[in-house]
Amino acid sequence: MAEAKTGIGILISGRGSNMQAIQRNVAAGFINAEIRLVISNKADAPGLKIAQTLGVETMVIPTKGLKPEEYEQEMAAALKARDVTLVCLAGYMRLIGRVMLEAFPNMILNIHPALLPAFPGEDAHRDVLAYGVKVSGCTVHIVDGEVDHGPIVVQRSVPVYDDDTKETLAPRVLEQEWVAYSMAINIILSGQYRIDGRRFILNQ
Ligand code: GRF
Repeated sequence: MAEAKTGIGILISGRGSNMQAIQRNVAAGFINAEIRLVISNKADAPGLKIAQTLGVETMVIPTKGLKPEEYEQEMAAALKARDVTLVCLAGYMRLIGRVMLEAFPNMILNIHPALLPAFPGEDAHRDVLAYGVKVSGCTVHIVDGEVDHGPIVVQRSVPVYDDDTKETLAPRVLEQEWVAYSMAINIILSGQYRIDGRRFILNQ
């Protein structure tokens, strides 16, 4: 009998290029899982159309003006109904709250376009350039209820050049995000790790 694949759910708010990269690696057999649902809080997120073209089920769950408990109940139920065990935030612009954290303990990942704990928040590339660091990158971490904060699973770095602007730095980082996210998913799917405080430690 074929082994049942792990169900992945992806939350987006916009473009969806990380979602697309994950799906590409699923289709190529690099990730042994199935994307069962893509949820957006925005009805006009371009990533929704991309997911549909890829044949992935999509859902819009608006969050505006609602308490996290209100929309997260709906979100958790939709994901559980599709046997999702790993949730990936991919450009999802809302803080994850108690309901989702309790429904998927240590099984929600987020990607951030900087080397955390430096430059958390919404405009990392602007902050990186303003500070003048020479190296940036991306971080995939476990979501713990604080913004861009939980234990770090994978980081990849890129150089920051003297003539960089947000427009030149962002795509250099994004290319690494596409690699880092799938690496992190595979580590989580392998189950070969433990979490000790903030430290995410691979089994030897
Ligand atoms: C990425 O840079 C990600 O790190 C950040 O939001 C952006 C989403 O891009 N959290 P996309 O929607 O995956 O193309």
